[in-house]
Amino acid sequence: MDLEMLDFKDPTLRSVSPFRYPGGKAFLSKYLADKLPDSTGKSHYAEPFCGGAGAALVLLKSRHVTHLHLNDADIRIYSAWRAMLTETERFIDKLSTMPVTIENWYWASDLVKRGYQGEYDFDLGFATFFLNRTSRSGIILGAGPIGGYNQSGTWKIDARFNVEALAARIRWAGSVRDCVTLTNEDGLTFLHRSLTRTPLDLTLFFVDPPYVQAGGRLYLNAMNEGKHIALSDILQNTLLQHWVLTYDDHPLIRSIYKDQKIVDLSVNYSLQNKRKEKEVLIEPT
Ligand SMILES: C[S@@+](CC[C@H](N)C(=O)[O-])C[C@H]1O[C@@H](n2cnc3c(N)ncnc32)[C@H](O)[C@@H]1O
Repeated sequence: MDLEMLDFKDPTLRSVSPFRYPGGKAFLSKYLADKLPDSTGKSHYAEPFCGGAGAALVLLKSRHVTHLHLNDADIRIYSAWRAMLTETERFIDKLSTMPVTIENWYWASDLVKRGYQGEYDFDLGFATFFLNRTSRSGIILGAGPIGGYNQSGTWKIDARFNVEALAARIRWAGSVRDCVTLTNEDGLTFLHRSLTRTPLDLTLFFVDPPYVQAGGRLYLNAMNEGKHIALSDILQNTLLQHWVLTYDDHPLIRSIYKDQKIVDLSVNYSLQNKRKEKEVLIEPT
């Protein structure tokens, strides 16, 4: 049965991802939908640096794509996604029963600091999610709880923790787990492997790597100049045909992508994108 695609104004498409992600790209969903290789909903969508995967989930929920290939090198983010997708009811149970307190914020923070180099772990995933929803700007390490350590701010630690709304988003994500392939690889490895394991003619790659000039420790940055250049090589010199890339507006990026179409994201999307950083969007010419 072919279900009809949803319009992007549909209220059910607001905030589909359970995460709050600094620099999240859900606002590009409609733009990305227009770039999909198949306009009848049969496209795949791949994100080598998926973070909160905001646009990905909107495209799946609105039925513009049939399959997501989500990857993040950060074991904490990967664990959160894997726990939500494969242990959905256990995750929701914990979400519904764990009090949103400073004590539990410390519990999550300790676990996330320790679990940095580890392997998949349900509690690590839950703790990452808990911190994302209870810390300032959704920053997992280093930002402190919403409302401050002594909770004297106007907003309190649970200001972004609406259990019912979050449970609904997670339950939906769990219900579509068969449409999601989740990996924990370096973004460049992921792209190399995609050349043989993903239907390239049907797949749009949305590439949103960490900034070249990292503005702070918002999230893991396992990239350096050499890797930014290697990434440009994969995108420009392999069989990957359909891709869209976003970056900070940096001379290195302007130089290595000089043959492609570069548009100023902060100007073109100023209404949706209230961030101060200047970002560019790049597509193959
Ligand atoms: C800019 S964020 C992506 C945000 C995402 N597009 C969204 O809308 O939520 C970059 C992500 O890349 C991940 N990351 C950093 N270095 C990486 C690497 N070398 N390979 C894969 N992922 C990496 C980080 O953990 C982070 O989640």
